Amino acid sequence: MQKPELSKLRKNYNSGELNESNLTIDPFKQFEIWFNEVLSNDKLEANAMVLSTVSKNLSPSSRFVLLKDYSEKGFVFFTNYNSKKGKEIEGNKNVALLFFWPSLERQVRIEGTIKKTSAKISDEYFYSRPVESQASAIISEQSTVINDYNNLVIQQQETLINNILKRPENWGGYIVTPILFEFWQGRINRLHDRIQYRFEKNKSWKIERLSP
Ligand SMILES: Cc1cc2nc3c(=O)[nH]c(=O)nc-3n(C[C@H](O)[C@H](O)[C@H](O)COP(=O)(O)O)c2cc1C
Repeated sequence: MQKPELSKLRKNYNSGELNESNLTIDPFKQFEIWFNEVLSNDKLEANAMVLSTVSKNLSPSSRFVLLKDYSEKGFVFFTNYNSKKGKEIEGNKNVALLFFWPSLERQVRIEGTIKKTSAKISDEYFYSRPVESQASAIISEQSTVINDYNNLVIQQQETLINNILKRPENWGGYIVTPILFEFWQGRINRLHDRIQYRFEKNKSWKIERLSP
């Protein structure tokens, strides 16, 4: 097999622009406008976002999670609280989220702080999932080393048959409260649009354009 010629992979971005004149002053609304546009264009994992956390000793790590809700309060996803990400969040509440929507040549960056959702929100989502997924969440000690995948499958099946499916205390939601959004629209010749919303001390959002 040949190594691909990466230096020749080159795409010009020209499917849209982001002007100060067509922005909303509220970044949550701007997110909603873009998210709806993505959903009507290309639904393929549009709600997948990269979550970056930083450990206590300042090592960063990233992984995809699925956005399951958003509002002015923040951006919600669900996971195992004892996972690597859970442990890092325990030690450092500063996180970043990242969306990439290639069909519209757009990226959204979010930075903020994170906390657990209420047990009620975690329950509502947990019990809305297919029972097989509930059983998987119950038996998986996410991010621990395992020796045998088949054991997982057996445990999941046994849990489905024998147990009342109850949300484990260590499985639930997190909500990210943004203090910064950046909306990036790919433009021709790499002169991209970048608009940043920063939450200021007076509790309003300051809008600034960044150099590409
Ligand atoms: C598209 C996509 C969506 C994912 N969504 C989730 C999710 O919502 N929650 C979750 O715990 N893991 C999700 N994962 C798996 C995570 O990327 C990761 O493997 C897992 O959460 C363990 O991460 P950690 O060891 O850093 O805690 C997803 C993976 C992909 C590729």
